[in-house]
Amino acid sequence: MSGDAPVFCRLDEIEDGTARGFGWDRGGERPVPILIFRQGDRVFGYRNACPHIGVPLEMDPDRFMNREGTHLQCSTHGALFRAEDGMCVEGPCVGRPLRPVPLQIGPSGEIQPA
Ligand code: FES
Repeated sequence: MSGDAPVFCRLDEIEDGTARGFGWDRGGERPVPILIFRQGDRVFGYRNACPHIGVPLEMDPDRFMNREGTHLQCSTHGALFRAEDGMCVEGPCVGRPLRPVPLQIGPSGEIQPA
């Protein structure tokens, strides 16, 4: 683990089965929007950009899940994505995945880019 890498949050700061949004400061003009989904002790990171037209998935802060809590959902046209691999399984961009952001979890639960 790199001590210089940014820490997005700790594992216990994301409710299990949900996702939160973060800005990833990579030294560019603006932070890169990402989302992090938690499933138990695992996390899955993606660029927060819908493969349909590139907009962020959520309209309200940290509201990434569909009502049933089974999939990530784009709030613009309702595309559903598998949380475990980002693949769109329903909606206008079926078969096109969210772009993954590899993450790692440190000894104190800190979530960082891998
Ligand atoms: S912008 Fe996401 S489904 Fe259309």
